[in-house]
Amino acid sequence: MQFPAEPFKIKVVEPIKKTTRDQRDHLIRKAGFNVFNLPAESIYVDLLTDSGTSAMSDNQWAGIMIGDESYAGSKSYFNFERSIKSIFGFKHIIPTHQGRSAENLLFSITLTSGDIVPNNIHFDTTRANVLHKHGKPIDLVIDEAMDPDCEHPFKGNMDTTKLQTFLNETEPDRVPLVMMTVTNNSAGGQPVSMENIRQVRAICQKHQRPFYIDACRFAENCYFIKERESGYADRSILEIARELFSYADGCTMSAKKDGLVNIGGFLAMNDDALAEKAANLLILVEGFPTYGGLAGRDLEAVARGLQEVLDEDYLAFRVGQIRYLGEMLDQAGVPFVKPVGGHAIFLNAKDFLPHIPRHQFPGQALTVALYREAGIRAVEIGGLMFGEKDEKNHQEKYPELELVRLAVPRRVYTSTHMNYVAESIIEIYKNRDRIKGLRLMYEAPLLRHFTARMEELD
Ligand code: F0G
Repeated sequence: MQFPAEPFKIKVVEPIKKTTRDQRDHLIRKAGFNVFNLPAESIYVDLLTDSGTSAMSDNQWAGIMIGDESYAGSKSYFNFERSIKSIFGFKHIIPTHQGRSAENLLFSITLTSGDIVPNNIHFDTTRANVLHKHGKPIDLVIDEAMDPDCEHPFKGNMDTTKLQTFLNETEPDRVPLVMMTVTNNSAGGQPVSMENIRQVRAICQKHQRPFYIDACRFAENCYFIKERESGYADRSILEIARELFSYADGCTMSAKKDGLVNIGGFLAMNDDALAEKAANLLILVEGFPTYGGLAGRDLEAVARGLQEVLDEDYLAFRVGQIRYLGEMLDQAGVPFVKPVGGHAIFLNAKDFLPHIPRHQFPGQALTVALYREAGIRAVEIGGLMFGEKDEKNHQEKYPELELVRLAVPRRVYTSTHMNYVAESIIEIYKNRDRIKGLRLMYEAPLLRHFTARMEELD
């Protein structure tokens, strides 16, 4: 097991609090057994998300100081545009305040009611934005993605046979675009291969459908291509990224991930007419096209973050740190999705807590245990997040996988924190029989996991 040494030193520190088990027991009860309701101050290691939680570099902070706050034509916008074009290569760069607003713009200008959008797996906000425009999101990921133990090197790949069949059987006008999410967050942060991107591109060309990439974790994906795909070992991450985006017509991006910033995103595309529509809508909902819902200083931080994320020492550390956590858990037999993805470990709660039935939310019960025993915050991606009532028999339907995601913020925690997380989880695993199931007491009609309140069962 290789201890990944940090390729940076610490210039500013943010104290984190240690609490007692009694304090955490009190707090989690008060929070209705939902970690979204906890005060962040009471958390020791926060692995709720890797989005917007990165630590910025001294160079990014320096950029913040010289951000140009001009309403129109800001110097920082041109730096932002230049930085993005140097990697992504698209003709039009439209700044947004985060990823979901780029998705909203894209689907607002391309989708009409009843249209269908294929993706390997839509992230929640992408799915919700398609639905919001009365479209239908469909997921065509390879079957291996649904098997937590399958060690496929590119488990995020699109099933090209399924895509081909879908496009053969569907009226082309009903498919405004085909999308691919890299890395594939919902399947465990799993990468997509260049070969798969190339094939999807060829299928899209054959059917004359535009091809867009959800690029949030593109640098992590490119690092996996370099490591695992033949022919890429000697190529730089920048070269790999340029090739990857050369196959697409555009992308949506949440810079809160591989942009290494706390807020920011963009929509990019080559189509002139579509870009004009996007910019006009942007003015209405986000802001003028040279700031799009961001401050000039934010644009400057994104411009710099996108260059830093291409650094191979950084990526080796980033991917290595998560792999290291995975290896420690694996040695103790803790069940999680294999192989380890780019931004998170996804614990397999069904196997972790086989004594808790699905209707008692084993994934959520595990997030409660992680917080109560160790002050670690993770997120359930299972029956609470995706469970829904069957329209016919009103029974709850559960998603196939019941996972708990430990998403690691970028450049925030040291590998010693990872040791702490691994040791805590291994201890919890040894005492897993003591963990109890939960019952739902309150649920909102949509996205219930954010605000649900629960009760612990005896
Ligand atoms: N696409 C993917 C693959 C994502 O993971 C996210 C966000 C988005 C789009 C939306 O970006 O948050 O900037 O609007 N994922 C976060 C997460 C929230 O925790 O995985 P956003």
